[in-house]
Amino acid sequence: MNAETRQTVVVDGLALANEIRDELSEAVNRHVQAGRRAPRLAVVLVGDDPASASYIKGKQRACSRVGMDSEEHDLPGSASQQEIIDVVERLNADDRVDGILVQLPLPKGVDANAVTGAIDPEKDVDGLHAVNAGRLLLGLPCLTACTPLGIMKILECHKIPLEGAQAVVIGRSNIVGKPVSLLLQQKNATVTMCHSRTRDLRAECRRADVLVAAVGVPMLVKRDWVKPGAAVIDVGVSVVDGKLTGDVDTDAVQGVASIVTPHRRGVGPMTITMLLENTLQAYENRTGV
Ligand code: GUN
Repeated sequence: MNAETRQTVVVDGLALANEIRDELSEAVNRHVQAGRRAPRLAVVLVGDDPASASYIKGKQRACSRVGMDSEEHDLPGSASQQEIIDVVERLNADDRVDGILVQLPLPKGVDANAVTGAIDPEKDVDGLHAVNAGRLLLGLPCLTACTPLGIMKILECHKIPLEGAQAVVIGRSNIVGKPVSLLLQQKNATVTMCHSRTRDLRAECRRADVLVAAVGVPMLVKRDWVKPGAAVIDVGVSVVDGKLTGDVDTDAVQGVASIVTPHRRGVGPMTITMLLENTLQAYENRTGV
């Protein structure tokens, strides 16, 4: 098909998320009907960043909609690393808590790896503990970071071929870039990980059948960075002049990409849905049901 006449599908991440949430809701309901307690997620918020507070509220609302319990632990921005770890350790010891999420970023001076490393790996619904990250690397069952899982569901739902495909990931974060690269590789894609020191980023991107942008640079990916027919996944969330902006110039890639995720109702709802799925998984693993 001519690049100019291609019909680009704008992914409806919310519709897909709602379908999966219906299934999760049924699974939770089955547990409750059988006389068991509902799965419970504990979220920890440090400081008063409005974006983080809003994400946390969204996650708790999503829990409640599928019948899961949640609890929020707020600490001031002045909390020490040890004070945050003390909260995590209390949640580790609380048998009613199945999943623990410490909202990132943490205030300056707090070592995020030390905090996420304190979470019981069985309750690590972000997949950030070294045990889960290592198990993912080895291809063993584990709790896996939510955004990468959401991206894989989107690609699966849109029947994007991954076997032998060229996948390019921009960004090498522990929470998105690294785990999504491994998941794509598990599906037999040939994965290139790009980052701020990559020499000719545009040329790398132009080779991609699947392009994942997760770097937080607004509108980085332009029309002429995209191979005709590529699946383009935009994970970036930046605010420019008060407007939510992604890493991809979504309008510009219309007519070139096969699918593209929008800034709103794209990857975001899927990330939250995978958090629910991970919480249910942690509950079933822990309770043996
Ligand atoms: N901040 C932005 N995204 C995430 C996420 O997926 N998990 C956590 N813990 N913090 C985040």
